[in-house]
Amino acid sequence: MTVLADRSVVLRHGVPEGTILIIFGASGDLTRRKLMPALYHLAREDLLPEKLSIIGLGRRIQTGQDFHIHMKHRVMQYCSHKMEQRYWIRLESKMESLKVDYYDDDTFNIIKEKINEKEKLWGQSVNRLFYFATNPSHFEAIVDKLATVGLNLSNPDYWSRIIVEKPFGLDLESAIKLNKSIVEHFNEDQIYRIDHFLGKESVQNILIFRMTNLIFQPIWTNKYIDHVQITSAETIGVEGRVEFFEQTGAVRDMIQSHLLQILALLTIEPPNSLDQEEIRNNKVSIFEKIRKYKVKGDIIENSYRGQYNKGVVNSELVNRYTDEKGVDPNSKVETYAAIKLFIDNSRWQGVPFYLRTGKRMPQRKTEIIISLKEINAIVPTLLDQQKPIPNMIKLEIQPKAGVEITIGWKPPGLLSEMEAFKLNLGATAELSEPKAYERLLVDVMRGDSTLFIRFDEIAEMWKIVDPFLKFWNEIDKSDGSEGKLLDYAAGTQGPDIANSIFHNPKIRWSKI
Ligand code: BG6
Repeated sequence: MTVLADRSVVLRHGVPEGTILIIFGASGDLTRRKLMPALYHLAREDLLPEKLSIIGLGRRIQTGQDFHIHMKHRVMQYCSHKMEQRYWIRLESKMESLKVDYYDDDTFNIIKEKINEKEKLWGQSVNRLFYFATNPSHFEAIVDKLATVGLNLSNPDYWSRIIVEKPFGLDLESAIKLNKSIVEHFNEDQIYRIDHFLGKESVQNILIFRMTNLIFQPIWTNKYIDHVQITSAETIGVEGRVEFFEQTGAVRDMIQSHLLQILALLTIEPPNSLDQEEIRNNKVSIFEKIRKYKVKGDIIENSYRGQYNKGVVNSELVNRYTDEKGVDPNSKVETYAAIKLFIDNSRWQGVPFYLRTGKRMPQRKTEIIISLKEINAIVPTLLDQQKPIPNMIKLEIQPKAGVEITIGWKPPGLLSEMEAFKLNLGATAELSEPKAYERLLVDVMRGDSTLFIRFDEIAEMWKIVDPFLKFWNEIDKSDGSEGKLLDYAAGTQGPDIANSIFHNPKIRWSKI
């Protein structure tokens, strides 16, 4: 399977020379927090083509030296390695920025001129890679304009590809509309719909862990698994992305994409071949089988949402969400969401899957907790207890990757009580941060779409989350108190009442 291989050698040779990378939205958070650090890492590992030009476009972007200095500081801030000047220079020499309007034809003529310049300079045809990192509301306009000037076309001498960031649309309807406008101008093999969690080694490892180990593979069913918690918590707030977050909120931003993809990898049927399309088909089958809630009562029973109030995170006092600059003081946008889902197929019938995400939580942590069923065993020893010991498998996704298994164990000594014993397997050092984007950028340049998402997956994921968004919206307009947006202090575990989602006082959300 591709995900297993160490591809560093292949990458070096697989990335074509002569590419222009145009980043729409280069003044935004994604570019400074993820893309630039990833490009710096690639420069450091000497995995960038010699003939590569990176042009950052933005409506409010800095230009010339100011852009370089700004990006350098961001790379210093967000890279896990100490920045080294010699590698930065390698990247900087390829970069420039342009202040542009995405709705103006001139912008796209300028891009064409830049491509012509590079073709002359390098004496070869130039591949065109367009990264859509703007607010998603601009995607359709950009696609149209690219097509108007013919920048959507590939030919035998060069390719033209687009990377489309998530969220892909704001609901099923808008996603279909966006996809229609993209496929009108680009062939499927030119479109890379990105979910950067799929680029994380620890996410790829979910399949390997559950499918290749005889001690786990046979228990991966409703016969042995009681329930599953998937959490992705962050300490950051909206980080200058107010305009984006006011339109999206935590469900569209994290659950519709990252957490549902994790859920799919945890639950899909094992593929019968190495064909990556089969994994995607199996993911679609899981999404189709996830129960779609149809009435408001289901949403009230199976979800909690919150918005952070002021509080202390990492010893720093932080504002409440509605005090962030640019946020509507009456905003009902959720910065925390916890939802419960069921998969109605024979393997998973009856097993609840709890998904939770939140901004301004005490730690940055993504993890999966698989709780196994209790065994009614009569143990013929002198044990006199019996508070049950939880039997759990924890898959740590980030910031560290690892596996922790909790088992019952009688410690040596005269005491006759069992204890929970934790086995820690393979916890790695902190993952080097921009890894996911690094891999995915290189994959696009190599034309490998294995770790990207098909539109049918996206459509199915919207069908799962749309009822939450629709009914929350209705609830916000109604007078009742059930299902309302809750308040939680920044730096805490989220609204305490969200533990009621388990309908069992013994079960709580794992501690962040
Ligand atoms: C992005 C979301 O997709 O993922 C952000 O838009 C979030 O809101 C980010 O902060 C988290 O990614 P990571 O890799 O830092 O966990």
